[in-house]
Formats: sequence, structure tokens, C-alpha cells
Amino acid sequence: MALLITSTGKNLDSWVAALKEAGPEVDILTLEQDVPHERILMALAWNHPPGIFRTLPALKCISSMGAGVDHLLSDPDIPEDVAVVRIVDPMLARDMFEFVLALILGHNRRLPLFAQQQSRGLWKKKRYRRIRDTRVGVMGTGAIGHHVCMGLSALGFSVSGWGRSASREGQQPPYRRHAGAGGLASFLRDTDILVCLLPLTPETRGILNRELLSQLPRGGVLINLGRGPHVVEQDLIALLDEGHLQAASLDVFDPEPLPEGHPFWKHPGVQLTPHIASLTDPASVAPQVIENYRRLRRGEPLLHRVDRRHGY
Ligand SMILES: NC(=O)c1ccc[n+]([C@@H]2O[C@H](COP(=O)([O-])OP(=O)(O)OC[C@H]3O[C@@H](n4cnc5c(N)ncnc54)[C@H](OP(=O)(O)O)[C@@H]3O)[C@@H](O)[C@H]2O)c1
Repeated sequence: MALLITSTGKNLDSWVAALKEAGPEVDILTLEQDVPHERILMALAWNHPPGIFRTLPALKCISSMGAGVDHLLSDPDIPEDVAVVRIVDPMLARDMFEFVLALILGHNRRLPLFAQQQSRGLWKKKRYRRIRDTRVGVMGTGAIGHHVCMGLSALGFSVSGWGRSASREGQQPPYRRHAGAGGLASFLRDTDILVCLLPLTPETRGILNRELLSQLPRGGVLINLGRGPHVVEQDLIALLDEGHLQAASLDVFDPEPLPEGHPFWKHPGVQLTPHIASLTDPASVAPQVIENYRRLRRGEPLLHRVDRRHGY
């Protein structure tokens, strides 16, 4: 049996090397090879070719190459009995924390504004906000969001998290937790900088809309690191134009790359980055991919299995 990397548009050399090192006994294949379809037990996927999973009769499990699985669950060709797993990796969470911190400090110190002033030759001071006066609200307190909340709390930010369920296995984290529709209004009311780290599911698609964003205090900032379709773009642009929101940092878009001529490219309130918040490091995650392949062979429960009913 074998593990097939069904990713397109990526150089896979580092993935193949890391997987071979973690699992020397595992047959690792890519789509560039002559694939023996009947021998593929597990697939490792990102931007997979449409329809490929239907052609693999022995397939038992598909692992996302990243934390998100929306790219897999939107594929109608994945049979119900094929397990979907994802990456949960401390390095992914740490990298995300560093990026969130960089963006928040940039907004507190008005760096995007000063970059614009520099391009216009303008010398104009603006007051800044200190860490201890900054209220950060993180939507999605899962593997990544929880780590971000913990890191920001440790630095002295005032942090709140919002998730679907009230508590994480009885833990009492050092940040306030809100949950569900009932907890949203109080969460937003006390948030200066809103960070979205939600997965994209039918429930969270379009969640960053006028109704939600207008509940932030005037002058609020949105940082979206989840997925592009979380944002209702025309609502966000209107709230920036009206001055209700001060700025938005966007790392994810629908579609990607962001099309030429899209209003986000030139909007003075938008800071954009090319889906770079946190990248999967093959060497860091190869052991968990191989562990799942071995568990599959032994018939044991898989790590980081996605609940396909909830979509994450
Ligand atoms: N931009 C980038 O470079 C980048 C990199 C990595 C990941 N990401 C994004 O980050 C996302 C999160 O990753 P993760 O590993 O932290 O995921 P995760 O562990 O599955 O956590 C998801 C969190 O979202 C919450 N949630 C899900 N549906 C919800 C809903 N309808 N209402 C309220 N809360 C909801 C969950 O609530 P419960 O705790 O109650 O279950 C959980 O706290 C990924 O799916 C991906 O989209 C982006």
C-alpha cells in the first residue's frame, strides 16, 4: 500500500524528503509518478485535482496538508467512509501568534497609516495605543486560536475568545471565553481588535458581515486570518468607508490570488498579505502524517480526525 501526495502547484521535494525520513518503510508517491491507483491507502492533499479521490478504490483516509479542511469538505467526490484528518502542529500555532502580534502592534502604532503618509511625503503625528489598553477578541479558540489567546494574554493584552462551545475540557484559561450566538454581543462590545481564526464551515461563511462588524466599538480593527469567504466584502468596505472600522488586515481571500483590480488592493484601510500568516512546515508535521498512516494500517483511531458533520 502507499501514501499519495495529491497536491498540485507546489514543489513537493521537501514534503517527500520529510515523509521519507519520518516513515522510511512507507511508499510515498506524487502525481508526477505512474500512480498504482488500487494501492493508495492514504492521500495528503492541498489543491488536489478534482475527481481524483473517486479513482482511488483502496483510499481510507485523506489528510489535509494544513489546519483547514474546507478545501476537502467542499469536494463532493469524497466517499462518506473515507476519514478526513488535518494538521495540528505547535509550530503552525506559534507562527500564527507571531503574525497576529506583528499585525496588532502595527495597528496600535499606526504603522499602515505612517507608511501611507510616507508615500505622500507627509509628516503627521498620531497617538498610539499601548498593549495594556488593547482589547483583543479572537473568534475561534481551537488549536491555533487558543495558543494566540494565551500568548497575547501573557504579554498583557486584554483578551477574549469566542467559540462554538463554552469550555475546553474543563480548562480555565487566562482569557475570557464567550460561546455561541448568545455570547457574541458581549464579546464584540469589548473588542478593539477582532482576530478571525475560525474554520470555514456552512455556519461561519459570511460571518464577518455588517451586522456582526458594526457591533465592534467605533474605530475597531478586523484581522482576518481564517478564510476569505468569512468576509462579506461589500459590508467590510462600507464600514471602512463610513469610518466605523479603522482598518482591516486581510491574509485570506475568495478567490486566491486576489484578482487584479479588486477594490481591496488599493483601499487605504486595507492591509493585505498573500495567505502567509502561518505556513505548514513539512519537517514539523511529517511525523503526524506518518503516524496516521501507521494507525490506518493497524486499524487504530486516527489523530486529528475532522467531524464532517460540523465541517471542522
Ligand atoms: N491564514 C493562514 O495562514 C492560516 C493558517 C492556518 C490556519 N488557518 C485557518 O485557521 C482555522 C482554525 O484552525 P485551528 O487549527 O485552530 O482549528 P480548530 O482547532 O478546529 O478550531 C476551530 C475553532 O473555531 C470554533 N468554531 C467552529 N465553528 C464555529 C461556529 N460556528 N461558531 C463559533 N465558533 C466556531 C471552534 O469552536 P469549539 O472550540 O467550540 O469547537 C474552535 O474553537 C483553519 O480552519 C484555517 O481556516 C489559516
